[in-house]
Amino acid sequence: MRYALICLSAFAVCGAALAQGADYAPPPMSPIQPAVDPASLSDPAQRRGHEVFGKWCSACHGDAPGMPGTQALEAKYGGQIPALVEERADLTPELVEFYVRNGISVMPHFRKTEISDADLDDLSAYLTRDR
Ligand code: HEC
Repeated sequence: MRYALICLSAFAVCGAALAQGADYAPPPMSPIQPAVDPASLSDPAQRRGHEVFGKWCSACHGDAPGMPGTQALEAKYGGQIPALVEERADLTPELVEFYVRNGISVMPHFRKTEISDADLDDLSAYLTRDR
C-alpha cells in the first residue's frame, strides 16, 4: 500500500511538471543578483560584464548571508578590503583572469566554453571599473 502511494505521488509530481509544458522556463542560474545596479554603468563592456557576473559569480559572491565566496573573502581579509568582489578597487584584469581561469579553493575554474575570452574581458572591465 505504501509503495502504491509513493508511486502515485511520483506520477502526480511528474504530471504537474509535464502539464506546465512549453510555458516552463528554467530558473535563472543564480537567484542572487549582482550587488551593483546596472543603471549606474554607462560603459557597454561593463554592463555586459555585470551580466556575466550575475550569471556565473553572484551565486557565491553575492551580497547575502551564507554566500561561500563573500564569506571566504570576509574571513581571508578580515574586513581590510570589501568582501564583495564587486566593491573591490584593488583588482586588475590579470588577477580576475587568473582566478576565473584557475579557480581557488571551492571556486571552480571556468572554461572558455562557459566564459569566453570576450566575456572575460567584459567581466574584468566591470570588476576593475573606476569608482
Ligand atoms: C562555487 C562558488 C564560487 C563561484 C561560482 C565563484 N567564486 Fe570566486 N571565490 C570563491 C571562494 C570561496 C573564494 C575564496 C577562496 C579562498 O581564498 O579561500 C573565491 C575567490 C575569488 C577571488 C579572489 C579574491 C582574493 O583576493 O583572494 C576572485 C577575484 C573571485 N573569486 C572572482 C570570481 C568571479 C569573477 C567569479 C565568476 C566568474 C567567481 N569568483 C565565481 C567562490 C566562488
